[in-house]
Amino acid sequence: MSEVLIEGVSKRFGRTEVIHGIDLRIKEGELTVLLGPSGCGKSTLLRMIAGLEDISEGVIRIGGEEVNDLEPVERGCAMVFQNYALYPHQTVRRNMAFPLKMARLPRAEIARRVAATAKLLQLEELLDRLPRDLSGGQRQRVAMGRAMIREPKIFLFDEPLSNLDAELRVRMRLEISRLQRELLATMVFVTHDQVEAMTLAHRIVIMRAGLIEQVGTPLEVYRRPANRFVAGFIGSPAMNFIDVREVRADATGSQLTLGDGSTLVAGALPAETASVGIRPEHIRIGLAERASLSFAAGQHRSIGAEHLGDRSYRYLSLPFGELTMLAPEEQVIDETEPLAISFDPARLHCFAHDGRRLERAAA
Ligand SMILES: Nc1ncnc2c1ncn2[C@@H]1O[C@H](COP(=O)(O)OP(=O)(O)O)[C@@H](O)[C@H]1O
Ligand SMILES: [Mg+2]
Repeated sequence: MSEVLIEGVSKRFGRTEVIHGIDLRIKEGELTVLLGPSGCGKSTLLRMIAGLEDISEGVIRIGGEEVNDLEPVERGCAMVFQNYALYPHQTVRRNMAFPLKMARLPRAEIARRVAATAKLLQLEELLDRLPRDLSGGQRQRVAMGRAMIREPKIFLFDEPLSNLDAELRVRMRLEISRLQRELLATMVFVTHDQVEAMTLAHRIVIMRAGLIEQVGTPLEVYRRPANRFVAGFIGSPAMNFIDVREVRADATGSQLTLGDGSTLVAGALPAETASVGIRPEHIRIGLAERASLSFAAGQHRSIGAEHLGDRSYRYLSLPFGELTMLAPEEQVIDETEPLAISFDPARLHCFAHDGRRLERAAA
């Protein structure tokens, strides 16, 4: 049993509290990603699970057992860090065997586990090499092997891919996913990279300033962000936010008055909507969709474009603020011509003054 239960956990460094009483259930056999901006407390939380930091308040249970007072080695967790420290003068085989030697396992058992782990990580050919004769990705795999070889109940990863180049990062991501599935392991993976979180996680825990903002599957947090912070953090380029001055219900739905006084008709939205969000990929140029905004020549200005090849992100300055949209590469936006943009009102996210998500009544 390797479910991790975090109950009312706080962390103080001296007088500064950096984790403020959080509750979280990390399910057995799942890959859970702790995601949030730098300094929000991800590493601290992970280190408290591992036993590398004291718990100032609250309880952490692993497999039902309270572990607050257990030493790291007694908790059955293995930690993989960003900097994979291997012993430079030892072969891959000896690097991997090291934790088992420390634990005084019989030699035959050590050999069996090294062979099994090397097979799983495709390191068999490399067992007699020294770390300096390995690529970055191979070293990372050896470091993982050294963590896995103890057959931990739980794998803890603290930004293990941040130092790798883009291509290798994608490969290692696939590798970690594969391992997780093969071992049916419980994994907790810390990152500040939302793409990494979206692609790896069964469940994402989004943190900010020592608190949890939302827990959900990647699609849940993408489709139904609990608040503006999550909405802006998940998705790249970020969701557009438009301030709303007033929502007035009429026969056809709601009429929104935007910050600059312009109006938009968009389904039935909650009266307390203070801002709406729309993702760049959900905006169309032209009037194809139900909700639309029109701008005269001179009212819209291009402030940049990012070309992806087949599509490009267009950054526009509009009367109510800036807007990012994803458009076909061949789409021309001419500042000397009028411009219309439109979207399906169902794609709008509504937020209250305090940033909370507001649910719309079913259509
Ligand atoms: N040993 C420490 N002593 C004092 N403050 C710390 C210590 N470790 C972390 N912090 C502070 O705790 C907060 C959370 O840090 P951390 O968990 O490393 O964030 P993250 O991993 O999300 O970037 C930060 O404000 C950081 O400065
Ligand atoms: Mg960190």
